[in-house]
Amino acid sequence: MLICVPGILSKDDVAEFRHIMDQSDWEDGRSTAGAQSAMVKRNEQLPPDSEVARKLGHRIISAMTANPRFLAAAIPQQIFPPLFNRYSAESGHHFGIHVDNAVRGDKLTGLRIRTDLSVTLFLSEPEEYDGGELIIEDLYGSHEIKLPAGDLVLYPASSLHMVTPVTRGVRVASFFWLQSMIRDPLARSMIFDLDTTIQGLSQRMGRDDPEMVRLTGLYHNLIRYWAEV
Ligand code: NI
Repeated sequence: MLICVPGILSKDDVAEFRHIMDQSDWEDGRSTAGAQSAMVKRNEQLPPDSEVARKLGHRIISAMTANPRFLAAAIPQQIFPPLFNRYSAESGHHFGIHVDNAVRGDKLTGLRIRTDLSVTLFLSEPEEYDGGELIIEDLYGSHEIKLPAGDLVLYPASSLHMVTPVTRGVRVASFFWLQSMIRDPLARSMIFDLDTTIQGLSQRMGRDDPEMVRLTGLYHNLIRYWAEV
């Protein structure tokens, strides 16, 4: 299941991020790629352990964990420190088809997570570049994603995906992974459906309606049943 979450960062935040990133040093993106993905990865990234990447990453995590739609969709247990990449038309950057590594370790904090979900947070507006679509393959076919700056997409880390060559301009994004409390994608997707249904119903019926209380209890009990914490 692909889920888009709009407005994680405001346009002002995006502008500030971009300004800071423009003044930073970038390195070859292959430094964090696995063996297969290193063969198809052509981009640049901020050094993952740099102060600037960590500071901006913290801001993204704070913004995401205050966002009800993100929390409902991901039910995050651990979030990997966000990384930042840049694809420029001048250098013919792209990232060929690959699957992300199953486990990610962070040298700085010792954090190790199972990558259930991949996240891309767009930091360039779609008009700033041509190409650079994130293509995600799942059971239902191939999906092309290009979102406004400040929006993110969540998708299963187990899916094949790629970034098509940027043919004009520069595409800047943050990308990272998270481990969800609900490992099973079907269970996670049903929890998300139930949560959004309850939110919709509670607007019409109020939260103190007796059946709403039972339904909310069911939501929590399903999480209790499935969650690994
Ligand atoms: Ni990837």
